[in-house]
Amino acid sequence: MTEKHLHELMEQMTLAEKVGQLVQLMPDFFAQGGEITGPMQQWQMSETQSYQIGSILGTHTAEQVYTIQKQYLENSRLKIPLVFMADVIHGYETIFPIPLAMAASFDEQLVEHAAELAAKEAAEAGIHVTFSPMADYVKDARWGRVLESNGEDPTLSSVLTAAYVRGYQGAQKQLSKDKKRIAACVKHFIGYGAAEGGRDYHTVDLSDLEMYQNYLPAFKAAIDAGVALVMTSFNTVHGIPATANQPLIQDVLRKKLGFEGLVISDWAAVAELMAHRVAADGEEAARKAFQAGIEMDMMSDCYLNTLAQIITAAPELQQHLDHAVYHVLQLKDALGLFDDPYRGLAAADLAVHLDPAIRRSTREAAERTAVLLKNEGVLPLSTSQKIALIGPKADSTDILGAWSWIGKKEEAVSLKEGLIGKNLDLSVLPYADEQALSDEYIEEACKLAQHSDVVLLAIGESSEESGEAASLTKLTLSRRQDVLIHKVAKVNPNIAAILFNGRPLVLSDVEESCKAILTAWFPGSEGGHALANLLTGEVEPQGRLPMSFPRSVGQLPFTYGQLSTGRPKTADNQDQKYISRYMDEDNDALYPFGYGLGYSSCDIEETTVLTISAEQGIFEVKARIVNQTDRAHHTVLQLYSKDLVTEVARPVRELKQWQKVYIPEHSSLDVTFKINQACFAYIHSDLLLKNDPGKIALYLGFDAKQAKKIGEISI
Ligand code: BGC
Repeated sequence: MTEKHLHELMEQMTLAEKVGQLVQLMPDFFAQGGEITGPMQQWQMSETQSYQIGSILGTHTAEQVYTIQKQYLENSRLKIPLVFMADVIHGYETIFPIPLAMAASFDEQLVEHAAELAAKEAAEAGIHVTFSPMADYVKDARWGRVLESNGEDPTLSSVLTAAYVRGYQGAQKQLSKDKKRIAACVKHFIGYGAAEGGRDYHTVDLSDLEMYQNYLPAFKAAIDAGVALVMTSFNTVHGIPATANQPLIQDVLRKKLGFEGLVISDWAAVAELMAHRVAADGEEAARKAFQAGIEMDMMSDCYLNTLAQIITAAPELQQHLDHAVYHVLQLKDALGLFDDPYRGLAAADLAVHLDPAIRRSTREAAERTAVLLKNEGVLPLSTSQKIALIGPKADSTDILGAWSWIGKKEEAVSLKEGLIGKNLDLSVLPYADEQALSDEYIEEACKLAQHSDVVLLAIGESSEESGEAASLTKLTLSRRQDVLIHKVAKVNPNIAAILFNGRPLVLSDVEESCKAILTAWFPGSEGGHALANLLTGEVEPQGRLPMSFPRSVGQLPFTYGQLSTGRPKTADNQDQKYISRYMDEDNDALYPFGYGLGYSSCDIEETTVLTISAEQGIFEVKARIVNQTDRAHHTVLQLYSKDLVTEVARPVRELKQWQKVYIPEHSSLDVTFKINQACFAYIHSDLLLKNDPGKIALYLGFDAKQAKKIGEISI
């Protein structure tokens, strides 16, 4: 439709019909055959209203979407199709590794491709919009939703966030033609990851400097990539919930970041303005959210039941309403819904047809995202060894992770299942996930371990232990898994721990008892097959940590990119009292950002830093990477910087670029990084992004901690 047609359509709409377009409800709110059912009754929603709403979230099948759309179109006056949205976070039915794991790939192509495949499956199930990517900046692993994030580095997160958007949406303006793509909604704007104490939905108090420097870039990247929607967050910013925060939405999101699409609230966040006690009733909540710039009200009855009277009482808001409705119609038009409300679904074939290629891709993704944290010669496994597989995750299919609500656990491949295909001398002692490990189980485990060469301990979190509403104050292994490790280690030290986790865990008490630790995260539908390939060495572990593993929960929030302090701890002042340190713990991470091992290794030799054009601020870093081993190696070469003198305190290290490299055995590779000084611009105290002249130190290496200084440049 042209802009003119959309405006003509709006001219035909009544006030109630316009308000309806701004309401998003679950499918069970939809009148079933005209009968007013539970939730509709509770919200006093009339049948007429139900045929005026604009959007549905959380349908499960193509058939459900088709039926609802058909019923809606038959009964609604103007026949404006519904837009169906859902959380397609790491796959729809076929599940990819969790986003935090995907970030461990440091691979934007992998992420883009995964998003494209997830979009395809979701689109075939009738979904038009996904509530993804989550671009929240995170540095507190107590917050369970770090699982959905791209980790603690704003640059890595920006690159991957944009890749998700491209993957879901395809090339811009193609959504109406390419029905295998879906629109993306970046979330949660903004600051959600900074919840105090890591407690979900809790207070956020964020400085503007920190917000502009670290929290906004990934949202900007999504907007620059053409993201269709932005979801606001539950939390407060500067004391006002983001959902009612006019300066945030109007000045920052709309003006500064230039977002022109649809702004949606998070689930019931408009109504929750009452719980925040910034609104006395539903009407005030609706007014505040609407004036702030929330256009679609997800799962509350505030707009549904009060917005029409708010507009009638304040006609100056009419224009604002028209803008919001226009954005909804524009989205529907961009998706091609006015031409084909079913977006390719055909009544004759609404069955699920899963594409095996997607399953294969999830396996490859799981192979490329697992991170080997430690390996003292126990991995890879060999067929001549007697191997014991022990622990709650040994034969568990609880490996999909939070947000795999459509994915079926029973179709996931457990570690045991994966290993069985590998011709190993394997004995398995599985255990039900849900229960704490009993003394009997631990005893049996020790017996089996005693008669084995290598013990694979499959341990970690259950999918309920991370994700939304899964904040923790302890990040050590739960359910007596630490006891299992310590007891087994006494009878057989050759332990390789396979960790299933949705967040960085605190492994300080157990890491010494393990000779190898492989973080599998929640690896998705093909997890077992991928892990079997990794453990047997058919594939080399290639993942690198996108988030530091702290030594202690007391270090949180933690990031490798901490600011310089007035009293830094250095190699020479370790014992002094009045420096920035803990008395009972080191300052650094147990496993730092960017870290991860393979089954081989390489060295960096002959680095050069070149100024190509001092005037234009163009530089190059060249390095020779040498693999002197008998085995090919995959790694991620990381370039960090440190601005030596700045206007506001700046991080001690900042990731600027990285390259995934593959070096065959006994060979070397020349790598070049091209650098433009624009990448050293930072947010100053006036909140503007700019460069200032001075020296920048550059570091090259394989993680944030070990990267070595290779020179300085002047900008
Ligand atoms: C979450 C969002 C999600 C929404 C819809 C909320 O609880 O915070 O991330 O997209 O539910 O399911």
